[in-house]
Amino acid sequence: MDSAGYGRYVSELSHLASRISVTPWQTSEAAVHAALNGQAAGKLRELVPAQFRRAQGAYFTNGAIKDRVTALLSGQEAGKRMPFWDATCGAGDLLLAACSGLALKTSLSETLDSWSRLLYGQDLQPEFVQAARLRLFVAAAARHRARGDIIRTVPEAGAGRFGRVHVGDGLAALRAATRFRGHVLLNPPFGMIGAGRDCTWSSGVTTQAGFFLLAGARALAPGYPLTAILPDVLRSGSRYRAWRAEAEELLDIEQIIPMGRFDRHTDVDVFLLSGRRRHPSAPVSGPAQWWLDLEADVRLGEIFDIRIGPVVDNRDPHNGPMVPFLTARSMPAEGAMGEPTQRRAFAGRLLEPPFVAVRRTSRPGDSPASRVRGILVTGVNPIAVDNHVITLKPLSGSERQCAEVLKVLDSEQVARWLDERIRCRHLTVGVLRSLPWG
Ligand SMILES: C[S@@+](CC[C@H](N)C(=O)[O-])C[C@H]1O[C@@H](n2cnc3c(N)ncnc32)[C@H](O)[C@@H]1O
Repeated sequence: MDSAGYGRYVSELSHLASRISVTPWQTSEAAVHAALNGQAAGKLRELVPAQFRRAQGAYFTNGAIKDRVTALLSGQEAGKRMPFWDATCGAGDLLLAACSGLALKTSLSETLDSWSRLLYGQDLQPEFVQAARLRLFVAAAARHRARGDIIRTVPEAGAGRFGRVHVGDGLAALRAATRFRGHVLLNPPFGMIGAGRDCTWSSGVTTQAGFFLLAGARALAPGYPLTAILPDVLRSGSRYRAWRAEAEELLDIEQIIPMGRFDRHTDVDVFLLSGRRRHPSAPVSGPAQWWLDLEADVRLGEIFDIRIGPVVDNRDPHNGPMVPFLTARSMPAEGAMGEPTQRRAFAGRLLEPPFVAVRRTSRPGDSPASRVRGILVTGVNPIAVDNHVITLKPLSGSERQCAEVLKVLDSEQVARWLDERIRCRHLTVGVLRSLPWG
């Protein structure tokens, strides 16, 4: 299985490129607009098997996120002739976003020469690279046409120009680079890989995107910019705290913008990060605003013992006393419950009611006011709690404080903050501990 099916789209692009110069501009304008916008992502879904796309982490930037990147780039580098480098360029969408701010020369041929010197990219898939080069050609030709220029350059010659956009391993290229004096663009693959022994910020399975971002930052000369689309888990996940510290060491982080779902076909939350390579002698500019903090004198973690339930049902042996067993499934949608009817033998830690139980999985944005629904659990016997549930046990033992924390969790302010703070699916103990009390 490979990306060969995308070759059909490459042929369509090639046909379009040759039409631009010979047909009246009005007849190709709509087709050009489609080719430079969401069409490449749509054709990817149509022509390349889903399994291969997932394995390669191939999702092309389009729609609102591409618009946002385009706006960010045009604001930052207006008037500067700075090279752009997308080390995982796919069909070139980030390079297209970058070149929308590049100036036109007197003729298409000169523009192609100039843009070719400024645009760098790699991808492992030859068909994606061909599509990227053709789309860059189409973008340049279309802008000349729109200006009223007559085009004499044939597309073959044009597409042949972007020699710095080529097949290759972008991660290896970033790692080999030093002091790149340009703008690194990234929307890397998000798939999981083993961290490897020499990784200082993670162990075990880890998102590839983390490695690309740090390699991209290291490749830059001091003061030069980087803009990246990254999986939200790097911004909000507690297991990527060390990655965030490393990113702060390398970059002066200027913007962190949670963007929600990548697109309506791709159920992964992402954020935009922009920053500049820190001058090694400059002090670290302090922790970046990975999320907005809620003001609070006292936080939930000071009033409640907050933990994940200790029972891993399919792994833990059924020995010890038979005890009531609380699972996410047995919890009502809201309100309160008495002792769970389900029972299980368990020799580990039990929890005495009253306490508040919260499901670990939540769905950001769907229904902001009900992101975290706590359930008051009462009863007289100690309870075994499944590890899909987080429990909040008041240190005072007071049921009144349980009722109060339900109101805190249900508040719109907390829902909105959580939406921003942690857009991925799993609530964490750390996040609940940091919520304001009262
Ligand atoms: C999420 S897509 C993004 C493509 C493009 N940057 C964009 O934003 O539309 C990631 C791309 O990385 C490519 N890729 C995966 N591993 C790579 C590697 N080691 N070197 C270069 N490209 C790679 C995939 O083929 C895919 O096209």
